[in-house]
Amino acid sequence: MATQPAGTGESGAPRILVLPDEERAAAAAAEHVLCRLAARPRLVLGLATGATMVPLYACLVAAHRQGRASFLAASSFNLDEYVGLPGDHPGSYRATMRRLLFDHVDMDPARARLPDGTASDPDAEAARYEAGISAEGGIDLQLLGLGGNGHIGFNEPPADFASRTHVAMLAATTRAANRPLFPPGEAVPARAITMGIRTILDAREILLVATGQAKAEAVRRALTGPVTPDCPASVVQTHGNTTVVLDAAAAALLPRHAGRPDLA
Ligand code: GLP
Repeated sequence: MATQPAGTGESGAPRILVLPDEERAAAAAAEHVLCRLAARPRLVLGLATGATMVPLYACLVAAHRQGRASFLAASSFNLDEYVGLPGDHPGSYRATMRRLLFDHVDMDPARARLPDGTASDPDAEAARYEAGISAEGGIDLQLLGLGGNGHIGFNEPPADFASRTHVAMLAATTRAANRPLFPPGEAVPARAITMGIRTILDAREILLVATGQAKAEAVRRALTGPVTPDCPASVVQTHGNTTVVLDAAAAALLPRHAGRPDLA
């Protein structure tokens, strides 16, 4: 993939890549990240969690092990973290990121940042986190997954498009979707600290990844529906430098013109 402004189509609308399956979608998204990292070793990454990101991070780890990628000069800010979970709780996003990526690449742990879910004042922690992103000069490349209800980060519908990092209440459907990541009997946290929609849009580039049939309707709404707080991800239509990587199942409800090579 070429560098800027390759992330977008001619109109500035998101550029959509459809790969046959999840594995190839993850590999294509990982190559996009690696391309940006090679071009800018001091890349400031915005990172996401969720099942969609698991194979993508595996590709990044493999590339690092093969000597194709170094994160030594890079830094990162994760989108979100549960309120109330310490970083060593296996369900926390910090622990998840360590398991999937941080423990296996050469990024300085001090520059791999997530909100502190145990902060005594979560609102103050959210403000501190937002200031930390600004202090780093902003995010170069923001990875995004997609919730089944169209959420990005933990910005649930209806989302505030002007929001910055804040404490959010999680939708019941989101808590249910994340249930398998917690031990039986342990409640999924009700709140999270999440980058806001405005924080996300401030990223110089966005890479949204969605795979699987369960995301098809959210993908359709996000990319071809109106830009509306009822589908928070639809805001990427306004960003101007966004690439969307899908597998065929997630792209199944997109019309022909939306970039499906299998239908071209
Ligand atoms: C979670 C995360 C999001 C993630 C989304 C999709 O709740 N907070 O950042 O993108 O839901 O997750 P998955 O990839 O598991 O479907």
